[in-house]
Amino acid sequence: MKILVTGGAGYIGSHMVKALGEKGYDVVVFDNLSTGNAEAVLHGRLVVGDLSDTAAVDRVMREERFDAVIHFAAHIAVEESVAEPLKYYRNNLANAINLIAACLKNGISRFIFSSTAAVYGIPDKIPVREDDLLQPINPYGASKMMVERVLRDVSSSSAFRHVSLRYFNVAGADPLCRIGQRYPRPTHLITLALRTALGLRDHLDIYGTDYDTADGTCIRDYIHVDDLILAHILSLEHLLNEGTSRLYNCGYGHGYSVRQVVDVVRKVTGADFMARETDRRPGDPPALVADSSRIKKELGWDPRHDDLEYIIRTAWEWEKRLQAKG
Ligand SMILES: NC(=O)c1ccc[n+]([C@@H]2O[C@H](COP(=O)([O-])OP(=O)(O)OC[C@H]3O[C@@H](n4cnc5c(N)ncnc54)[C@H](O)[C@@H]3O)[C@@H](O)[C@H]2O)c1
Repeated sequence: MKILVTGGAGYIGSHMVKALGEKGYDVVVFDNLSTGNAEAVLHGRLVVGDLSDTAAVDRVMREERFDAVIHFAAHIAVEESVAEPLKYYRNNLANAINLIAACLKNGISRFIFSSTAAVYGIPDKIPVREDDLLQPINPYGASKMMVERVLRDVSSSSAFRHVSLRYFNVAGADPLCRIGQRYPRPTHLITLALRTALGLRDHLDIYGTDYDTADGTCIRDYIHVDDLILAHILSLEHLLNEGTSRLYNCGYGHGYSVRQVVDVVRKVTGADFMARETDRRPGDPPALVADSSRIKKELGWDPRHDDLEYIIRTAWEWEKRLQAKG
């Protein structure tokens, strides 16, 4: 079986490539290396190219005859999406449409899509279920919601089938420390906290301490990247077994507050770094937690790493190695 992984040199995509390689799949990665890294591709062949280059995408698909496409490539920074919406609609929406069109043209009928909890915006109730109202509050979330819709429409008008996976807060790294988060400008809480613990930043900002949560800070559902990848493997097997199009939340179903994350980072790293309380950021939901019962019931997803300390420990080991490499 041969799988095309777009964005396979990035954080989550490289963990996908690792798992596919370990399971004996043939893998081709298509990535422009804008935020990805060639050495993160542990298996298969890397084609360096941009999804806006439709001829290059078509060429790869004609050369290789893929059984499925797993689409990770996107821009992912929420705040940047507010400042530069067209950048997000171009890369996340227009390039996804071109990729889906190339699949149809080349007879590829199985597609897995990286969606996000940002499609829910500020949910009315927690935990959120797949059928709850979608009300994204930034172009990043809107661009992902639109791709989900395109996939639904294309799937209902052809033999094309897809699985959209709505990721919650993805964190942690490969336990063997080969790959992990490597964003040029990190925005994720755990990575920022670890870098502060390493002394690369002088403090960590805690945005908002007056939310209606137990300790006043925001609550998020942190999922270890390997458990998220397991959800992709199950989705791929589902499609390869001629399963129908599906949509799933991917999270553990419970969350941790910013203060709880900071406490665990301090414990794991042994560093008593400064966390500075500051104002809320506009558009941050007080709590974002997944109801993932659907994927558990339908695909038998059985996550193995629902443990914040494990998540942070793997990220810490990776971050130390990354910084030591320079
Ligand atoms: N990290 C999270 O917590 C999270 C949460 C929800 C959803 N997601 C989604 O998961 C996917 C992967 O995110 P990530 O965290 O691994 O980010 P990442 O930036 O590490 O990975 C994205 C990869 O796509 C590549 N890429 C971007 N635009 C491209 C283009 N036009 N052509 C070719 N390659 C391109 C980048 O070089 C990079 O390797 C994204 O679709 C993101 O929206 C991530």
